[in-house]
Amino acid sequence: MSLEIPWVEKYRPRTFSDIVSQSIAINNLKKFVKSTNIPHLIFTGPAGTGKTSTALIIAKHFLKDEELDTNLLELNASDTVRIDFVRNILKNFVNQNLVKNGSLKFVILDEADNIPGQVQQALRRIIEKTSNNVKFILLCNYINRIIDPIISRCAVFRFVSLLKESIIERLKYISEEENLKIPSEKKEEFFDQLYFISGGDLRKAINTLQMAVALDLLENLDINEVFKISGFLDVETLKNLNEAIKNKDFIKSREIIQSIEAFDSRNFIRQISEILPSLNIAPVNIINLKTYIGDIDYRISQGADELIQISALLALLIENIES
Ligand SMILES: Nc1ncnc2c1ncn2[C@@H]1O[C@H](COP(=O)(O)OP(=O)(O)O)[C@@H](O)[C@H]1O
Ligand SMILES: [Mg+2]
Repeated sequence: MSLEIPWVEKYRPRTFSDIVSQSIAINNLKKFVKSTNIPHLIFTGPAGTGKTSTALIIAKHFLKDEELDTNLLELNASDTVRIDFVRNILKNFVNQNLVKNGSLKFVILDEADNIPGQVQQALRRIIEKTSNNVKFILLCNYINRIIDPIISRCAVFRFVSLLKESIIERLKYISEEENLKIPSEKKEEFFDQLYFISGGDLRKAINTLQMAVALDLLENLDINEVFKISGFLDVETLKNLNEAIKNKDFIKSREIIQSIEAFDSRNFIRQISEILPSLNIAPVNIINLKTYIGDIDYRISQGADELIQISALLALLIENIES
C-alpha cells in the first residue's frame, strides 16, 4: 500500500480504454485523433468525470514524451483571470518555435467557465489568429458560461456523471491494487457510503478512500468516522436532528447544527435532501422545499452566511411538518 502519491494521480487513466462511462465522447474522440487535423475541443460536464484525464490522453497521443515540457501548456482559471497574463503567457507559448518540424502544441484550459467574459474575448482572438498547429482544449462544468464565438470554434463533448456501479467498481479495483484490508461484512456499505459522499465525483470518492486509509480507519471500519472526516453528519447526529425536526423543536435543531465540528453546509444540504421524504410533509410542500433548498445552495455558493441560510431552512422544514 502506498500513500506517497495521490491515488487520483496514480490511477489517472492513461489510455482511452481506461476511461469509464464516457463512451459517446470517447468513441468520437478516437475518430478525431486518427485524423491529422483535429479541431479545438471543449469538454463539459460535472467534476471528477474524466475531462482532464481525457485532455491529457489526447495531448500525449500527439506529442512525444520529450515534447511535453515545451508543447503542452496547462492553465487553470486562476491563471487566466488576468487579461495581461492571457495576452503574454498564452501568446508567447503560441508563437514560440512555431511549425518546428510540424509538431502540434496543446493548450489545456481548466475551469474555462470561470474565465471572465472580457478575458474570454481576448482568448477568442488568440484562438482565431493562432496557427493550425496549436490546439486548444477547454474544460468546464457549465458550457453556458463560455462565450458563443469560442463555442462555435470548438467541437463540444459532454461528459456525463458516472454511474454508481462505475464508481464502486473503480474503488474496488484500487482497493485490490493497494491490498486494502476492508472488513468483508462492512465492505458493501463502505463503498455505498463512499459513493454517497462523492456525489458522483470519482476524484472525491478516490480521495476519501485514500484519506480513510491514511487515517487508519479501515481495520475496525467505523463508517461514521469516514462520514465525519468528509464533513458530513454522522448517523447518530443525523438521527437526533431528524427527531428535533419532527418534534418541531427549532432551538434544538439549530443547537445540533452549531455543535458540529467542521460543518459543511453544502454536504448538509445533500443529507437533508435525502431525509426529506421520511419527514411527515405533504408532497406539494416537499416540491416547494426542494426548490427552496436549491435556492439556498446557490446563495451559499455565492457567499451568503451559512448558519442564517441553514437556520431558515430548518425553520421552514419545521413549519411544514404535519402534526
Ligand atoms: N471516466 C473516468 N474513468 C476513469 N477514471 C476517472 C474517470 N473520471 C474520473 N476518474 C478518476 O478521477 C480522477 C479525476 O479525474 P479528472 O479527469 O481530473 O476529472 P475532471 O477533469 O472531469 O474533474 C482521475 O485521476 C481518475 O482516477
Ligand atoms: Mg479537471
